[in-house]
Formats: sequence, C-alpha cells, structure tokens
Amino acid sequence: MEGMKNEIRRIAVFSSGGDAPGMNAAIRAVVRTASYYGLHVYGVYRGYEGMIEGHIERLEKGDVGNIIHRGGTFLKTARSERFRTREGRQMAYDSLKALDIDGLVAIGGDGTFTGAKLFYEEFGMPVIGVPGTIDNDLYGTDYTIGFDTAVNTAIEALDRIRDTAESHNRLFFVEVMGRDTGYIALNTGIGSGAGAILIPEVSVDVTTLIHHLEKSAKRQKLFSLVVVAEGNENGNAQQLATEIKNRYPEYDTKVTIIGHLQRGGAPTALDRLIASRMGYKAVEALIAGHTNMMVGIQNNHTVLVPFDDAIHRNKEIDKELLRIAEILSL
Ligand code: F6P
Repeated sequence: MEGMKNEIRRIAVFSSGGDAPGMNAAIRAVVRTASYYGLHVYGVYRGYEGMIEGHIERLEKGDVGNIIHRGGTFLKTARSERFRTREGRQMAYDSLKALDIDGLVAIGGDGTFTGAKLFYEEFGMPVIGVPGTIDNDLYGTDYTIGFDTAVNTAIEALDRIRDTAESHNRLFFVEVMGRDTGYIALNTGIGSGAGAILIPEVSVDVTTLIHHLEKSAKRQKLFSLVVVAEGNENGNAQQLATEIKNRYPEYDTKVTIIGHLQRGGAPTALDRLIASRMGYKAVEALIAGHTNMMVGIQNNHTVLVPFDDAIHRNKEIDKELLRIAEILSL
C-alpha cells in the first residue's frame, strides 16, 4: 500500500498518550493544511478512547485559531486500554467509517504509533504519525514536539534551585521526566550547568558520583546540582539522596521532583515551529499516498520514517553531549 495514491478526502486528527506543549500547534497545522487542499478535517477527542466512543467533530480553519501558543492539547488525550483489544479497534474503525474518514494523523509517542500501525494493518486505514512527547525518545527524528519546552521549563527550575543551593551549600538532587530515557536530563543538565547528570543509558554508582562531585569541590565549590532522570537505573532522586546521606552525612542533601510542571506551559518557538512543520508534512504525506510513517526532522529537514523504525529502533544518546557534560561539570 505504501506510496499508492488512494484519494484522501476526509481526514481525522487526534492526540494520544502524554500531552506535550506544541500539540495544539500541530493540530492547527494539520487542520489548516488539510483545509488548504480542500479536505474535510475532523478532530477526535481523547485519543483512541474518543475514537472508540465516536467523539469526533468537524474542524474548520477558524476552530484552531488562538491555540498556537497554548500548552496541552485542546483535543484532549488519553491512554486507552480498550484500543489494545481487537473489539475496541473495531469500534474505533466503525466510528471513523460512519463519517467516511479515510486518513488519520496521529500525534503522540511510541504507544500511539504502535496502535496506529496495528490499526492500519487490520483495517487498511492510512495513518501518518507526528511525534508529540516531551521525552524525545523516538528514533528517526532529532526532536519530538514538547521536548524543547520541557527542557526550558526544567532549566528555569534548576536556575532557581541553584540560588538556594548555593546560599546553603546544599547538594540538590533534581529529578526530571523522560520515562526510561535520559534525553531531557542530559539537555537540562548541560543547560543548567549541573555538577552531575544521571541517566538510564549510563550506569553511575554512588561512590563514582561522590568522587566526581568532590573533584569540583576542590575548586571551592561547596554546593552542587545533580540532575537525575526518573528512569535512572541506580536510583531515583530520593533514593540517591537517602543513600548519600547515609554514607556521607556531611552532605546536606535536598530533593526536588519537577514532575508534571515539565508537561505544561506555552510551547517555545522551536516547538511551535517543528509542530507547524510536522503537521503540514503529515497532511502532504497522506495526500501523496504514504501511510504507516512518522514525520521526523533530521538535520533541519522534514523526513518520513517507517513506524517500525520509529518504534523499535534505539535512539542512541549523543556521545558528544555526554562528554561535554562530563568536561564542563569539572
Ligand atoms: O511520556 C511522557 C511522560 O511525561 C514521561 O516523561 C513520564 O514518565 C510519563 O509521561 C508520565 O505519565 P503520566 O502523565 O500518565 O503520569
């Protein structure tokens, strides 16, 4: 089917999984591009859940006005258990067919694309994915929508924590999101000048961490910020702080978990821009007859990446960034 030109007339767009700042900008781009090409566009509310329940409404160009700057997703989102079942997917297909919808734009992460791929294989519904997740963990794209905003939010939080950490000579463990990956932590850590960055991709034990911090203490720096990815294998921020306090009581340790603060807020310029580019490209790809592909940005060009690669191939952590983090924190 890939590359065949079945004429697409009515498409639906939805967001699914964790929300990410910039999703609204992507929805806007899909609706405006599709309208430009004379397609009818529908919005599915609450992701696959809304698709199953038939919560689908026609969207006109004006319906997506005044949303480019807003965080969250006005179509709302959900993590759907029912869509994991064949029965749920059949109900979703019936809802779409009742409106003669013949193409989908799915905005989300790997769970969203896994569902979309299965849906295409079972029902032949063409689908293009737009990567929307703060985690930036999808193979085939340099950026996912929401990542830049999440990193900026985390850096702003770290800047504030730095003031109080320095005043009290405290060792702060600041936990950021990223599920089982460390992209948010690595970028946040470098951008905030952290003393150490702990991510799932690189195993660092507590003894090594203390040695590293003590090297920088030699230059009279008594406080430290340690950025910890939530999925860090040797412990989350709270566990590490407790272990250090037990083994090295001289350290005055504190813990901050940034949590869902990273998921909200107005998208940055970069997120608005990539969301607009990706939403546009998704509609062009559907019209051109592509399916089962994710839009990506590689070296500042939009590309199409097979779902299989985006979902299953491992996005390697940038080794140069790791080295930069190490050298600049000493
Ligand atoms: O995938 C985005 C993300 O924010 C992860 O970084 C985090 O692990 C997860 O979602 C949290 O999910 P929820 O909002 O459902 O608790």
